[in-house]
Amino acid sequence: MSESSTDGSYGKARFTRRRFIIGTVGVSAAAALGGTVVRAPRAVASGAPSGPPTTTLPLPTTTEPEQLLLTWGSDPAREVTVSWSAPGTVAQPAPVLAFSTRPITARNPGWLIKLPDPKPLDVTQRYEEAASVSFPDGLNGQTTYFYHVQLTNLEPGTRYYYQVSDGASAPSTAGASFETAPHGRARFRFSSYGDLATPSWDLNTSGNIWHESCDNSWFAVTAIENPGDGQGAPLFHLLNGDLCYANLDVDNAPGVWRDFGNNVARSSAHRPWMPALGNHECEFGVDMMSGHPGSAAGGIGAQGAAGNFWNGPYGFGHYLSRFLLPDNGVTNWDGNRLRGNFYAFGVGTVKFISLDADDIIYQDGAANYVINTANATPETTTTGAEIPNGTTTYTRFYTGGLKPDATDDSLVPDYASGRPNLQTIWLEKTLAQARRDPSVDMIVVFMHQCAMSTSVPGNGSDLGIRQAWLPLFDKYEVDLVLSGHEHDYERTYPVRGYDAGELGTVVAPNPGQVKGAAVDTRRPAVVTTEPYEFNGTPAWNTREGTVYLVLGGGGTNGPTNTYGTDPADDKPQAKVITTRNAVVGSEATGFSKNGADSVEDAPWSAAINPTDAYGYSIFDVDPGQRPGETTITFQYFAIPAVTNEAGSAHDGTTTLPTQPTEKFVFGRRVGRP
Ligand SMILES: [Fe+2]
Ligand SMILES: [Fe+2]
Repeated sequence: MSESSTDGSYGKARFTRRRFIIGTVGVSAAAALGGTVVRAPRAVASGAPSGPPTTTLPLPTTTEPEQLLLTWGSDPAREVTVSWSAPGTVAQPAPVLAFSTRPITARNPGWLIKLPDPKPLDVTQRYEEAASVSFPDGLNGQTTYFYHVQLTNLEPGTRYYYQVSDGASAPSTAGASFETAPHGRARFRFSSYGDLATPSWDLNTSGNIWHESCDNSWFAVTAIENPGDGQGAPLFHLLNGDLCYANLDVDNAPGVWRDFGNNVARSSAHRPWMPALGNHECEFGVDMMSGHPGSAAGGIGAQGAAGNFWNGPYGFGHYLSRFLLPDNGVTNWDGNRLRGNFYAFGVGTVKFISLDADDIIYQDGAANYVINTANATPETTTTGAEIPNGTTTYTRFYTGGLKPDATDDSLVPDYASGRPNLQTIWLEKTLAQARRDPSVDMIVVFMHQCAMSTSVPGNGSDLGIRQAWLPLFDKYEVDLVLSGHEHDYERTYPVRGYDAGELGTVVAPNPGQVKGAAVDTRRPAVVTTEPYEFNGTPAWNTREGTVYLVLGGGGTNGPTNTYGTDPADDKPQAKVITTRNAVVGSEATGFSKNGADSVEDAPWSAAINPTDAYGYSIFDVDPGQRPGETTITFQYFAIPAVTNEAGSAHDGTTTLPTQPTEKFVFGRRVGRP
C-alpha cells in the first residue's frame, strides 16, 4: 500500500486539501469540545501592549505558590519530582508539600515534607530530597525561587494527591494529583511538541507580550489536557526545547519564565512535562554563583574575554533552577554536574532519552547580540553588564570534544584530547544498556535541533547531529527521534546509514567555504518509501530504519512551514548547516551572522504541512503480547493559527482539531510474519 497523501511522482507525501479540511474544521466536534475556547481571565492590562517591554519590570512580592510542575525521576513508576515557584523576588517563608493516595483534606493532611531555606543554584552540589533553589538572573538582577521535592518509593500506576503551601497563605492547589507510570509491560499515552513560547498579553499572567508570544502557545497546552481524539490526556508530555524564548527578552528573562511556568502548569500540575534543552534556553549573563564558570577559568573578566557571557552554567541557569530532572551521573570536565542537561527514563517497554544537541551542532544560534551597525553600544543591562556587539553564546563541545572518524565522516569522542565529549559517551552507554535490556522494546530520543528539515525560513538540517549521533542511532536502532527548532511539522521516511558519495552544494559560504563547491552532508539513506499496514493503519518498521519527526509547532509567533524544493526538478531540498555560521565583522563596521551554508536533495522528507505550522502529537504505546511486539500509534493534530494573527498582539482564538492530519503505527515487528 502507499500513503494516502502522496502527491504522485516525487514520492513526497503532502497534506492534501481534503486532509487539511478534515484536520482543521470539524465544526460540530469542535463545539463539543466546549472548554477549549474558554478564555483565561484578562490580566492587568486593559488593552494590548504595543510590544515587548524595553525596561525591567518588577515581579510580584507575594509568595503564594504557582507554576506547579511535575517531572519524572529516573524510574517513573516510583519517582516523581514535584516543583513549584514563588511568583516573584520574595522567597516563601515555610514551603511545604503534602501528598497522599487520598485527596488532601482537613481530615487527611497527607505526608508533609518541609523544605529548607533556599540556596543559590550550584550544580557542583548534589540535591537533597527536598531543595529550595534561588537563581539571580545575570542580566536584570532579579532573584527568583524554585522548590523541588523528589518523591521516591511511590507505588506504580497509582494516583497521588498533593498540595503545596508557602507557609503563609491558604493552599489553593487542593485537588491536584498525578499518576505514577505503570510497572512492566503496559499501555500508556504520551504527547510531544517543542517551541512553545508564551501566550500573548491577554492569556499571560503578567499581561505582557514577550518577543515570541502568541496565543497558539495557550491552545497547545489546552490541547494536551484534552486531545482531539477524545481518548484522554497523556501520562506525560515531552517538550522538545525552546520552552519560552526568555533569552530574547534580556531585561525580563525571569518574567518570561514565569508566564511560561503558569501557562504550562495548566497541564504540568497534573502530569510530568519532560523537557529537552534548546538554543533559546541558553541565556546571556555574568553570573558566577551557580557552578564553575565553564571553559574560561578566572572569573567574569575572563569569561567575557572568552565570549562566555553565561546565565549560570553554559547559559542554562534558569532551566536548571526550574527543572530537577533525572540524574545522568555525569560530571563535566570543569567540575559542573550535568544533571538535567541530558537524561533517560523508561516507561513500560519504551526508553526515552533527552539530549542537549547544543553540545554537538554546528549552528551558532543561541543568545546573540549581533547587529550590523557600526560602533554599536554594548547591550547594557540593569546590573551593569555590558555585552559587546558580536557576542554569541556558542556552547558546542561544552561536554568535551569530538574528532573526525575518516572511515565514515562521523565524529567520535576525542579521547586523545583528554576531554572526550561526555554526552556522546553517555549516549552510547545508555543506548547499549537499553538494547541489552529485555524489558525495553523501543527507544525514543527527543532533542531540540534537527538532523533533517526542509524548512526554508527555518534553520535547516545540522550536519553536527548527523556526524555525532546518527551513527549511534543507527547502531542501536533508535526507533523515533523527535525534535523542534523548526516551527513546523515534518516527518521522514525510515532512514539508516547515509548516501555516501551524494554531495550537497555550498550556497551561502562561511569563511573558508567556496560558493558552488560540493560538500559531504552525510545525507541519511532512505530505507523505504512504502509503509506496511498494521490493523488497517499505515505502519513503519523502525527496526529497519529510524523515523525523524519535526514537532516544533508549539506556539511561537514565527511559523516556518514553507518547505524547500529544488527548482531544477521540483524534488524536496533541504538547507544544511555544515560549518559554524560564525560571526563576521568588527566593532567599526558592525557584525553579521550567516544562516545555513549548503543545500542537499532531500529524498528522506516524507511529509510536510504547508497549511498549518502549529500542532501537537499523541503517541499511544501498546506493548503487545510478547517482548518485541511493542507498537506506537502516532497521531499528529494540526492546530490552525490564531484567527487574528496580524499585529504585535497575536491575540485570538482558534479551533482545536478533532481529527489527526497524520496517523501511523511504528513498531519493530510490523510487516513481519
Ligand atoms: Fe524555536
Ligand atoms: Fe530553536
